[in-house]
Amino acid sequence: MDSKQIDIAWRATWAAAQATVATVGRGDPEACDQAAVDAMRAVLAESPVRWRVVIGEGERDKAPMLYMGEELGQGQGAITELALDPLEGTGLAARAAAGALSVMALAPEGNLLRAPDVYMQKIAAGPKVAADVLRIEMTPAEAVGVVAESLGIAVREVTVAVLERERHKDLLAGLRATGCRLQLFGDGDVAVALALALPHPSVHLYMGIGGAPEGVLSAAGLSCLGGSFRGKLLFRNQAERERAKLAEIEDLEREYSRDELASGDLAFVATGITSGDLLQGFCSAPEGDYGESLILTADGVCRRSRIFVPA
Ligand code: FBP
Repeated sequence: MDSKQIDIAWRATWAAAQATVATVGRGDPEACDQAAVDAMRAVLAESPVRWRVVIGEGERDKAPMLYMGEELGQGQGAITELALDPLEGTGLAARAAAGALSVMALAPEGNLLRAPDVYMQKIAAGPKVAADVLRIEMTPAEAVGVVAESLGIAVREVTVAVLERERHKDLLAGLRATGCRLQLFGDGDVAVALALALPHPSVHLYMGIGGAPEGVLSAAGLSCLGGSFRGKLLFRNQAERERAKLAEIEDLEREYSRDELASGDLAFVATGITSGDLLQGFCSAPEGDYGESLILTADGVCRRSRIFVPA
């Protein structure tokens, strides 16, 4: 990705964070989401690039803006595809809870899986865990065991993040039985997955079921950082299977590697909205805006910067 596209993508996440901040903590998730979507879309639509949303706010009939397949921007050249979530952790923003962010992955055409808005079973780890050792079908004991071995630590020192959901009852019981530590979180698994690759992560492994679009975003970020990610789409009914077929997913049982979800000349950008492990929250003050953004590229650029934009 060239620096012009990355800069526009960063400005789009910054604008989304800036617009959302006025809605944080007001208990109105829709208002939070709308503010983020409007602001992100405005930046992309006015920019001199030809964008196509491959993962966005949903399918065309359900999402008036940033829907999957929407093309926008003023550019004429080659298409740059986007997986985006103007507000990842809508509920977190509405509750002013930690970890909401605005995020986007960009890549040349054909490098991001067009994942339908269904669930995905996920397993992820940071770059210190040996590449390609994790598998979706691993039992909790096997997964924790290979992570402990890779990191050279005892199983009881491994911390595993899991979304706090009823569907994870068996997974949690299996993990507890290993003696590892558990970090349960309420929402926002992109930030949790990316935080696995921080220099001194507080979490070593992420397991469980979350959104498939968030899975592609996580794979893109971890690809830039050299972490591991695998995902398998999960379908609750025939309508969801049909949506996968519309997205041209042929093999519904496939386990995707990180690179099958996102690869090539990628970039990943995110701006914090509420403070979390990955990014500081956004703050609008009379003198200007303070925020923190993360910019990653496939060729190893990794910038995590506190930014001040004067009023
Ligand atoms: P939204 O920002 O779309 O609300 O997603 C938040 C999130 O927690 C994701 O990070 C996660 O992948 C997904 O929801 C889990 O879905 P569910 O809340 O249905 O368990």
